[in-house]
Amino acid sequence: MKTTISIIKCDVGSLVGHHIVPKPLLEIGKNKLEKAQKKGIINSFYVFNAGDDLELLMVHEKGEKNREIHALAWDTFQTAAEKAKDLKLYGAGQDLLKTAFSGNVRGMGPGVAEMEIEERGSDPIIVFAADKTSAGSFNYPMFRIFADPMSTAGLVIDSNMVGGFKFEVLDSKENKKVVLKCPEEMYELVALLGTSTRYNVSRVWRAKDELLCAVTSTTKLSLIAGKYVGKDDPVAIVRAQHGLPAVGEMLVPFLHTYFVEGWMRGSHWGPLMPVGLKDSKCTAFDGPPRMVAVGFQVCNGGIASDKNGSPMIRDIFDDPAFDMARREATKLAGVLRRMGEFQPARLSAEAMEYTTLPQIVEKLKDHFQPA
Ligand code: F6R
Ligand code: MG
Ligand code: MG
Repeated sequence: MKTTISIIKCDVGSLVGHHIVPKPLLEIGKNKLEKAQKKGIINSFYVFNAGDDLELLMVHEKGEKNREIHALAWDTFQTAAEKAKDLKLYGAGQDLLKTAFSGNVRGMGPGVAEMEIEERGSDPIIVFAADKTSAGSFNYPMFRIFADPMSTAGLVIDSNMVGGFKFEVLDSKENKKVVLKCPEEMYELVALLGTSTRYNVSRVWRAKDELLCAVTSTTKLSLIAGKYVGKDDPVAIVRAQHGLPAVGEMLVPFLHTYFVEGWMRGSHWGPLMPVGLKDSKCTAFDGPPRMVAVGFQVCNGGIASDKNGSPMIRDIFDDPAFDMARREATKLAGVLRRMGEFQPARLSAEAMEYTTLPQIVEKLKDHFQPA
């Protein structure tokens, strides 16, 4: 029996400015998915927000890229966007870039990460969701989790892991992908992943048996729309334990903050702040960019649930262990913001091509004289 975990997200409108998904929109998400669960389309779900992004976590048996599942997400986002329009919320429907559904939400605005798995005896899963950043924000932690023995002790100690992991890396500029195996091709992997604005980890497998361990969303909204249309706030699904990195090893990269692209107007480097769901809301300079993590156990095609049928979900970053990262992020946010629009606080000129800056530069074109 195969189980599919789908996390599909979309910014359908928010309160206030690009801050959070308000309750009426979360309720639309819950109601739609509850109905779909009753009809047997999905087996379990959990609706939450990563800042201004509505996140639909669905567990089912229909496989990846399934039309019915994607149609359910699309319909939910459309209904929520309608509500957002009625309430005059900010950016209502901002990520719904196409009008007619074509069978798959990929390339239509929403972000997607999906993983079809053969359930192991017990399969712990962590879903990561970030706001005000992009897919490149997973490069550093994915490398640390699946390739860095200083982070994941199991790479050294657990015989099931010593064969290493394979990384699929997407070149978002050329729309090409390559698979690199660690430890053998670790330096080449770092060479690519270090350019996090262009190359993104899209999938990870355990090398010895091709067990799928991680998937991320790698959408670039600007490449779909041809212009700056907000950030590509990413999601990822990661499997843990029993011959894979432990949940605890997976969280080591988040003990400290690290810099990601995004933040205000998708145009700045910002320190990533791991937060619990209650703090999943961007504030200062539309940030700092935040990441939440929800953990659960898959169970017979769904999420292990309590006696009332509620899925048992853990809010992983809601823990004092990540206070240091949060403090660092706050401090470094101050350092970067003191620099204003001066590089490296602002993204490189190449990355700024996908923002609204070129319009400003265009206006000055005729004022330039030969030097
Ligand atoms: C958008 C975002 C924000 C906006 C900024 C300006 O996802 O995260 O940082 O880019 O608030 O927004 P507008 O242009 O809508 O006023
Ligand atoms: Mg928004
Ligand atoms: Mg967002």
